[in-house]
Amino acid sequence: MEGAKIERYKAIALLDSGVGGLTVAREIFRQLPHENIIYFGDTAHFPYGPRPHSQVRSFVCEILDFFRVQGIKMVIIACNSATAAGLEHYEKRINVPLLGVIEPGIKEALKHTQTNKIGVIGTAGTILSGAYQEIFGRLNKGGARLYSQPCPLFVLIVENGLVDSPEAKRVAEEYLKPLKDAKIDTLILGCTHYPLMSSVIQEVMGPGVKLISSAKETARKTKVILEKKGLLNPQACQGSAVTTQQHRFFVSGPAKPFTDLAVNLLGKDIKAYQVILPHQFL
Ligand code: DGL
Repeated sequence: MEGAKIERYKAIALLDSGVGGLTVAREIFRQLPHENIIYFGDTAHFPYGPRPHSQVRSFVCEILDFFRVQGIKMVIIACNSATAAGLEHYEKRINVPLLGVIEPGIKEALKHTQTNKIGVIGTAGTILSGAYQEIFGRLNKGGARLYSQPCPLFVLIVENGLVDSPEAKRVAEEYLKPLKDAKIDTLILGCTHYPLMSSVIQEVMGPGVKLISSAKETARKTKVILEKKGLLNPQACQGSAVTTQQHRFFVSGPAKPFTDLAVNLLGKDIKAYQVILPHQFL
């Protein structure tokens, strides 16, 4: 059991095409403050949304290989587009627990809806994959209906720091109109970038619509998995605080734009390092 003890000190790995997965990282810091993370933002391949699933899967598999040599105890695919491209493909690549972000968000939305009218917004890749409809169909026991709407420009607005611009509001009004017309009462932010636009989305949808970010539920599920496997970091029991030095941030593109957004979003002074993956330029 000595080996299992060492495992508990290892990091939780998270990946996304850019800064979106930091919304999940932020929630991990909140709910599991004694855990260390390794974050990979595949900014050289951003955005994932419009790419074929097979290509997204090959990017993700390379990042998983990178994670494997870092010493990790769990992987969170903190990206809906990469989750929709096929979680089952990633399971074969690693031998630690793996969690995507689609199922946790749906469960939370089903708990919340009063009218049984739920909306989901995401990248074109996520929405057109039908992954939300499929998992929703499996989890929905009470006759709820899911209305989906792709919002591809939202990720560009977030990565370019334009969330407070008039263009963001205009684009949101156009994308969200069909969901307003459908009179949904719950809206799943089916892209980990979207919580960073939640104020404009809430403003357009109105106060009667509850926004569901999968980040909270994903962090909660992470805790459940680690607890069950005896993998929670034992520092939690000793009451010692973890500092940001133990978290590691990597990007496949230039580090500076990512670092600037990440510092702002996490409220922590982090440093990101650029890593060139073996097949990045093929
Ligand atoms: N954050 C992403 C998601 O959850 C990816 C956005 C993109 O790269 O298109 O889908």
